[in-house]
Amino acid sequence: MTAMAAPDEALVARTAARFAAPVSALEPLARDLTRHMARGLVGEPSSLKMLQTFVRQPSGREQGRVVVVDWGGTKARAGLVELGAGGSVRILAEEALTFSDADKRGAPEPVFDLIARAVGRVTHAQGVALAPLAFVYSYPARLERIDRAVAMASTKGWRLKGLVGQDVAGLLGAALRRAGLERIVLAAVANDTVATLMLQSYRARGRDAGARPADVGLVLGTGTNLAADLGPAGIRNLESGNFDGVGGVETPYDAALDRELDEPAPGAQLFEKMVSGHYLGEILRRALRDLGARAARDHWSAPSALATPFALDSEHLSRIAADHTGGLDDVDALLRSLGVPSTAEERRDVRALGAAIARRAARLVGAALVGTLRFLDAELVGRRTIAVDGSLWGGYPGFEALVRETLVELLGGERAARIETAYVKDSTSAGAAVIAAAAAAQRSE
Ligand code: BGC
Repeated sequence: MTAMAAPDEALVARTAARFAAPVSALEPLARDLTRHMARGLVGEPSSLKMLQTFVRQPSGREQGRVVVVDWGGTKARAGLVELGAGGSVRILAEEALTFSDADKRGAPEPVFDLIARAVGRVTHAQGVALAPLAFVYSYPARLERIDRAVAMASTKGWRLKGLVGQDVAGLLGAALRRAGLERIVLAAVANDTVATLMLQSYRARGRDAGARPADVGLVLGTGTNLAADLGPAGIRNLESGNFDGVGGVETPYDAALDRELDEPAPGAQLFEKMVSGHYLGEILRRALRDLGARAARDHWSAPSALATPFALDSEHLSRIAADHTGGLDDVDALLRSLGVPSTAEERRDVRALGAAIARRAARLVGAALVGTLRFLDAELVGRRTIAVDGSLWGGYPGFEALVRETLVELLGGERAARIETAYVKDSTSAGAAVIAAAAAAQRSE
């Protein structure tokens, strides 16, 4: 290292340190989240919506075939799921759909028509003419019944014209009828976090009827959110991506990102904007551009794909973290693919910054879990299960260990050991089927 380079190196290190999220910032955040839950539940002003879900924990004995639609990110899926004995779930067929940026900004009906046609292809191929359908709509929506969900603000880069205020289950039902699928009947609509929670409970109780159900459902992918079983208040969708008590860990990069995006609006989805896969790469990109100018990392500020918002995503972050070669060869290849040459030192910097951003996300998730669990059980005396799904949890090397570390820091080893995290990979479609079957059984009770 030359004498000239030292201040620049220090600037990069200081920038990474801004993402530290120490316990002194996480503890107040966790407490604030518990308070927001209490307020949201009684309808007082709160950044947590605490939405009703109109479904109770499954018995584990639910059975049958359910058509499922999972729409929650850049992709949607239509499928057919079979629930069998002993908590078993089989995906009999599935088709994925991808959406263009134009789809995301257009009218809702064409998107619902694309989904309905996919349902048509799947059911036709499986010879199913008559079946209940479960719709997982993973955006904020206020359920008024198990089969009616009024869209609230959009998230994750979607901005369909005039969708807010409409019943998304009704829109899908209408699209199914336009597609000639009158006998595929929308039976339940739910959030993905609820599907994750319900699937974990179904599997556990299917194997052992007396098993404890999951207490919390966490999704950590393109977006992030939590659902929790609040006992008498039922299973609630917190919409925790909108939690706004994050001032203590905010960096200037977060503030600028929030200010410059128009959907979600500034001030909305603040927690999600620091934590979820849709944003982590963008935070890194912003840090690199800034340091390129200020810390003599010219490659980062020169014209390249790095000038384009959202050019980096969380898969890039995962790749960077997974590169264990001495020369960071894969980081080199990745940067080159974006038109950015790099020195070994710059690659080490990119890796350190990416790791700091992902680590902060994990620590924020840990704090949010602590805040949620304390609402259920202030002293955390009982055992608790958190069902988790999502590409960031499953794909970022060591993410779970970082969350665990935070739980231990906030709660101490003994309490943290009572919290189990169960990774329920690809839970949405299967969980949707459980929701529809549980809702049907609960209706007939
Ligand atoms: C949505 C939630 C969803 C989460 C995870 C967020 O952007 O608002 O409804 O559960 O993403 O998919």
